[in-house]
Amino acid sequence: MTNSCSTGSPLLVHFVQFATMVLSRAFAAASLASVVAATPLQPQARQYATSACAEVAASVAGQPATPVPSVDAKLAYDCITSVPLHKDEALHLIEGVVPYFRWQSSTAWLKDPPAEYAEKIQPATDVWGGLEKIKSKVESEEYDNEFEFGFDLYTLLQQTHDGHFVYVPDVVGTVFNWARPVPLVSVSADGKELPKPYVYADVLAESYGNATFTPSAITKINGQKATKYLEDWSQRGSLQDRDALYNNVFYELATVSLGPTGSGIGTFAGSGRGKWVYPGPETKLEFENGTTTTYTNVARVLVSLNGVTDGESLYQKYFSSQATSTIAATPSNSSVATTTASATPSATTTSIPAPGYPPPVYKEQHNLIGGYFLEDDYSDIAVLSVPSFVSIESAEVDFQQVTEKFIVAAKAAGKTKLVIDLSANGGGTILQGYDLYKQLFPKGIGHAAFDRYRAHESTKLLAEYSSRLADVLPRELVDPDVNETKYALESDVIASPSNYLSDLNASDLNFPSWEAKFGPFEHHGDKFSNLFHWNLSDVLTPYNSGGIWVHGYGELANYTSVPQPFANEDIVVVTDGYCASTCTIFSELMRQRQGIKYISLGGRAIKGITQAVGGIKGTNNYPWTYIQYLAELTITNLTASAEEATKLNATELGDYWDNVVFERQAPGTSVNVNFRDGIRDTDETETPLQFVYEPADCRILYTKAMTVDVTAIWKAVADSAFGGESHCVAGSLGGYRTGGRRAKRELTVQDKAMSKRMHAWRRELRAEQYPLDVYTDLKGMDLTRRGIMWP
Ligand SMILES: *[C@@H]1O[C@H](CO)[C@@H](O)[C@H](O)[C@H]1NC(C)=O
Ligand SMILES: *[C@@H]1O[C@H](CO)[C@@H](O)[C@H](O)[C@H]1NC(C)=O
Ligand SMILES: *[C@@H]1O[C@H](CO)[C@@H](O)[C@H](O)[C@H]1NC(C)=O
Ligand SMILES: *[C@@H]1O[C@H](CO)[C@@H](O)[C@H](O)[C@H]1NC(C)=O
Ligand SMILES: *[C@@H]1O[C@H](CO)[C@@H](O)[C@H](O)[C@H]1NC(C)=O
Ligand SMILES: *[C@@H]1O[C@H](CO)[C@@H](O)[C@H](O)[C@H]1NC(C)=O
Ligand SMILES: *[C@@H]1O[C@H](CO)[C@@H](O)[C@H](O)[C@H]1NC(C)=O
Ligand SMILES: *[C@@H]1O[C@H](CO)[C@@H](O)[C@H](O)[C@H]1NC(C)=O
Ligand SMILES: *[C@@H]1O[C@H](CO)[C@@H](O)[C@H](O)[C@H]1NC(C)=O
Repeated sequence: MTNSCSTGSPLLVHFVQFATMVLSRAFAAASLASVVAATPLQPQARQYATSACAEVAASVAGQPATPVPSVDAKLAYDCITSVPLHKDEALHLIEGVVPYFRWQSSTAWLKDPPAEYAEKIQPATDVWGGLEKIKSKVESEEYDNEFEFGFDLYTLLQQTHDGHFVYVPDVVGTVFNWARPVPLVSVSADGKELPKPYVYADVLAESYGNATFTPSAITKINGQKATKYLEDWSQRGSLQDRDALYNNVFYELATVSLGPTGSGIGTFAGSGRGKWVYPGPETKLEFENGTTTTYTNVARVLVSLNGVTDGESLYQKYFSSQATSTIAATPSNSSVATTTASATPSATTTSIPAPGYPPPVYKEQHNLIGGYFLEDDYSDIAVLSVPSFVSIESAEVDFQQVTEKFIVAAKAAGKTKLVIDLSANGGGTILQGYDLYKQLFPKGIGHAAFDRYRAHESTKLLAEYSSRLADVLPRELVDPDVNETKYALESDVIASPSNYLSDLNASDLNFPSWEAKFGPFEHHGDKFSNLFHWNLSDVLTPYNSGGIWVHGYGELANYTSVPQPFANEDIVVVTDGYCASTCTIFSELMRQRQGIKYISLGGRAIKGITQAVGGIKGTNNYPWTYIQYLAELTITNLTASAEEATKLNATELGDYWDNVVFERQAPGTSVNVNFRDGIRDTDETETPLQFVYEPADCRILYTKAMTVDVTAIWKAVADSAFGGESHCVAGSLGGYRTGGRRAKRELTVQDKAMSKRMHAWRRELRAEQYPLDVYTDLKGMDLTRRGIMWP
């Protein structure tokens, strides 16, 4: 334990160590098994040609210099679908997910959603019924192969469109990731006409290459009307809202700027959730000008296939809970190591390319947040671009400081308007969302919607035992280097929402007892805890925030005396709909507490307003590994005697010892439930916010310029919000524009220097700076963040 409380993220560091420990135990067991069960290597390459998997193995062996080899998608599909179903192990896995599904807050609402949700957002889904169906299909041997089963299980969670609810079985994500070699964009010709899809490389060529090149729009994909094809494909994404899902199909500067931790070049080309859906053997594009182009789809091969001769040997090597190769913990092959190595540095070092982003005033090194000024007529505008609320370990302090320094710099430079761009923001550290809001509104109300979680036997026992410990262990920050045990108890038990002394009730007071906080209360045919919200003055805040204090509280309490830096009507927020988790908490604060206007970009080729906040509005995800840790910790460490532990182990809390779900999870994927819902304090129906439809104030369409130069978005937003020209194709920013056209200001020396820099930057833009293959890869990442929807 090297991180101190003030500089790092002790909670998360501690947890990663725990998770690594669990995984290495599994790895040790698996290596032992490999001695017994290893498949003998086939001596001759010729023999490999007898099965699709052998062909893949041979093809990979022929690409030794390639960090991530690839094969034709069809060959990979034939290989993965030749893996026979292992019935007993499949049933074991189905049993294994059950304890974790119970923590999913919204199953009752998903099964029976409000009419407006079902009409405008997504249809009802029955998670428990669906799991039963999968089970009976396994029992009656209706699945032709392991992949059909695994993909069904993956889809059961994915189709809830709750990006916090995710499990990627090994057969879906361990060996292959699919891709189409052609990223697209969807743009309007003039910002008014409905958008059409284009090949992104064509748009780049038009922008930076040949002045005479005019790209032609795609009319059909694989013989189907293009927009219909893309809408159907978009439904494989993680977001809820259909327009947000549609945007996520395409290449986008904000997602690209996040590198491997974002959804890159869009799901169509195999980024984000696109990588787990077989796109067919090829992609045939027909264009308006009559041309047709056909691309061969590909599969990245993520692991060594040494010794793999057929589907069964692939199963034995990677998919069984007794698998002979475990790659979750330690890569066993150099090609795997290279994959990991190529992902990790780009995720943790300074140089993730952010093509189309101008020189920043201040920027966090992984592009999680950046402050920018615009040039010439837009010299009064400051832009805060926030594609993440901290997805990367130990970035919390830097992230907070970028906002602090940028606000000071913007005020000093006389900027009067603020555009906040939340595009691509899947969330991150919850209290960073609060902090950014409080930096902008030092006197603003310090809580968003209420939180609540699902009440069942496991959460009840945690509430009871955590609160029992709370009655004897004072609430205080502990240096992990001084007493690691105490530190673990403080950060994981005392600071947790299970403890009745954490959080505040609806009267802004502590709950008097664990029963008062836990309830349960009945809603919609299910049971839930009482409503509560964060106590931002809590002494244990640093354990929940990655080490920072929220402005206005604790060590930063005096910030309440700072004047609000920008007037409410001088702030506008723009999103691409990809706003989930902590991003939705921040947005709840901005919209409900401050009335800030929201602009949504892009969307389907359909007229009308769209939603700006299109991702899961659950207020906290829980990794399944963390749930397992909490259950085991409660049984082994919060009981007074061995007898009591045995007794507790016989309850539902004893259901978490089996590691099958982790052994059978694709490495480098998130495994989460939505633990807490957000409930608006004015909503008497107490509907979780993800089931509430909320149109944006204004919708702006993407143009070609916006897909190569992000300042084109910011200028359209500034024009629409603060005078000049409205680009809203639906909705309006009404009162915002009463001042008419923004008064042109006399440029200062500083403004002129900035304008010069911007023009120089734009002159230097080249098509080659835009990567056409950004691979979403979370291997080596700390996936334990609690307010994030991972791509
Ligand atoms: C520009 O167009 C000409 C003729 O169509 C072609 O030969 C040339 O390669 C193009 N240049 C670029 C940079 O695309
Ligand atoms: C038609 O448009 C496509 C897509 O922009 C382009 O690749 C192709 O070169 C064009 N064909 C002709 C004949 O102009
Ligand atoms: C890993 O794969 C490479 C080729 O892809 C092979 O040469 C090497 O022997 C493999 N190593 C192990 C440990 O399986
Ligand atoms: C929990 O108990 C185990 C086994 O007795 C011990 O190793 C560990 O340090 C304890 N952890 C905490 C946080 O008390
Ligand atoms: C560490 O904290 C635990 C829990 O409060 C306590 O029981 C133990 O005595 C402490 N250890 C040391 C070395 O202070
Ligand atoms: C909050 O808890 C206090 C006791 O700590 C109680 O007096 C108050 O009524 C509670 N408020 C609500 C809304 O339950
Ligand atoms: C919030 O937490 C602080 C410190 O842990 C505590 O002193 C305070 O009483 C709590 N606030 C409320 C309103 O209970
Ligand atoms: C708040 O307190 C800190 C430390 O005491 C000080 O550095 C800072 O200037 C103060 N800020 C305000 C706004 O008073
Ligand atoms: C709890 O039960 C499981 C078997 O279900 C066993 O593996 C584990 O060791 C038990 N733990 C304790 C503390 O009794």
